[in-house]
Amino acid sequence: MVKWWKQSTFYEIYMPSFKDGNGDGIGDFAGITSKLDYLKELGVDGLWLTPFYPSPKVDNGYDISDYYGIDPDYGSMADFELFIQEAHVRGIKVIADLVLNHTSSKHQWFQESKSGKDHPKRDWYIWSDKPNNWESFFGGSAWEYDENTSQYYYHAFAKEQVDLNWANHEVKAAMMDCMKFWLEKGVDGFRLDVINFLKVNDNFQDNPFDVENNEQIHLYDKDQDGILAVIEEIAEFVHQYPDKFLVGEVGSEDLAILKQYSGLNKLDVVFNFNIGSIESFDVKKLFQQVVETENVYDQSQIPTLFFSSHDMSRHFSRFGGDEDRAKLVAAFMLTAKGVPFIYQGDEIGMRDYVCDDISKMKDIQGITHYQLALQAGQPEEEALVIANEKSRDKSRTPMQWSAEHHVGFSEKEPWISIPENAYKVTVENQQKDSDSMLTFYKKLMRLRKAHSALTNGNYEFLRFEDNMISFARKDSAEKIVVALNFSAQPKSFEIDMKSELLLSNKRKCLECNDTITILENEVLILKEVN
Ligand code: GLC
Repeated sequence: MVKWWKQSTFYEIYMPSFKDGNGDGIGDFAGITSKLDYLKELGVDGLWLTPFYPSPKVDNGYDISDYYGIDPDYGSMADFELFIQEAHVRGIKVIADLVLNHTSSKHQWFQESKSGKDHPKRDWYIWSDKPNNWESFFGGSAWEYDENTSQYYYHAFAKEQVDLNWANHEVKAAMMDCMKFWLEKGVDGFRLDVINFLKVNDNFQDNPFDVENNEQIHLYDKDQDGILAVIEEIAEFVHQYPDKFLVGEVGSEDLAILKQYSGLNKLDVVFNFNIGSIESFDVKKLFQQVVETENVYDQSQIPTLFFSSHDMSRHFSRFGGDEDRAKLVAAFMLTAKGVPFIYQGDEIGMRDYVCDDISKMKDIQGITHYQLALQAGQPEEEALVIANEKSRDKSRTPMQWSAEHHVGFSEKEPWISIPENAYKVTVENQQKDSDSMLTFYKKLMRLRKAHSALTNGNYEFLRFEDNMISFARKDSAEKIVVALNFSAQPKSFEIDMKSELLLSNKRKCLECNDTITILENEVLILKEVN
């Protein structure tokens, strides 16, 4: 039996900005439930929800203060249960984002830990008399002084996100209990946040400095000895429950590191940042990363395919803001070998948001860099440019359901309003348009579901020539050939099989030729026929 997640297309929902159901301007479970039919119709098989637990939201929920509840902004436990039930009725699985690396500083565990050096929970977090040079991933020192006990505590992210000490067995047991709770509530698995950060170097050695790029190399604060044993324990625990799925956020673009975390007895998949986070559009680099992943991964490993998330710039903008190109990228994501993760709004080609006023910025990473820039003597305008580079608000604006809906969000203003020029990019407009991005995504997702070679098939060939990627995927039932011409020139493409046209963004039928001319920016998907 092929595992369900190998045949699934996932969709990431960023909790505060997907759909507001009660008119307070913040996304919630009632809103998501009301859009399940939309997601089903789109062809989504699995949802990844960003953290929905009670949280002060210094980092939008990645600072959890209670692992057993629902944040009131998102509804009640009953709303969550109804949502899970309704998703399952539609055959949609749900995976929950879980932050095992750190808790909110407001969490009861940390409150107890900081209450005194002799408290039994003191060792649940990482305390030291003297900070080393480790930097927080959001900027500044990773150590915060606690006056009450005259020691420093470690935080890889904001000072309000305190790192748990995974060397302590009670911490591990407490987190396993928490996973059990949500698995029994019916979630189908977890997206494990910064999972390669759980262990830090025992000797707290200083990190080296990369002079060329003027930044610290995070050598001793992630991917440390012992981490894989912890991953295996987590995987073993979760996989006792049949059919549960684990996707890890391993914060690295290094394929050799990513490879260690997935496969037999480990996580089912990890996010392949080596493919997904290419900074600008570079089709050759994309191709090379795909080939390298194919070569480096073993039989038990399968990559994930994504180009946007709540932590990244939207790929529509990052790759140059071109609609044809975005369609080619969508076709790649939904036909190449791997488990696709669409980010909310990808399917309508949503664009990045640029903040024009620091008081409107929400992301802690952007705000921290703004403050650091000012402290370093930069003028306000320059600090805002730096803040925008670092800010992840870019991709976090509300899902653009319709132009009117946008007004609803901005009137109440708890979340960021949609940029003016993006009004046209709405679900409502694109639903009516047979050439729209949304219609194209739907066609691709249907095709993926209808053809087992697109989910189970291995590559028969994988080629790159002059800005065109082409590949054939084959399983025991069929062979499918995909040609993606990313160039502005037509290309001739030889096919050595009798074929039927499954999908193209540029033509309706195929002349029966051995050599086909693939048009500029064309997506061509063919199936072998006898
Ligand atoms: C992950 C999340 C990100 C968060 C960070 C710290 O990278 O995706 O949004 O800020 O972890 O929890």
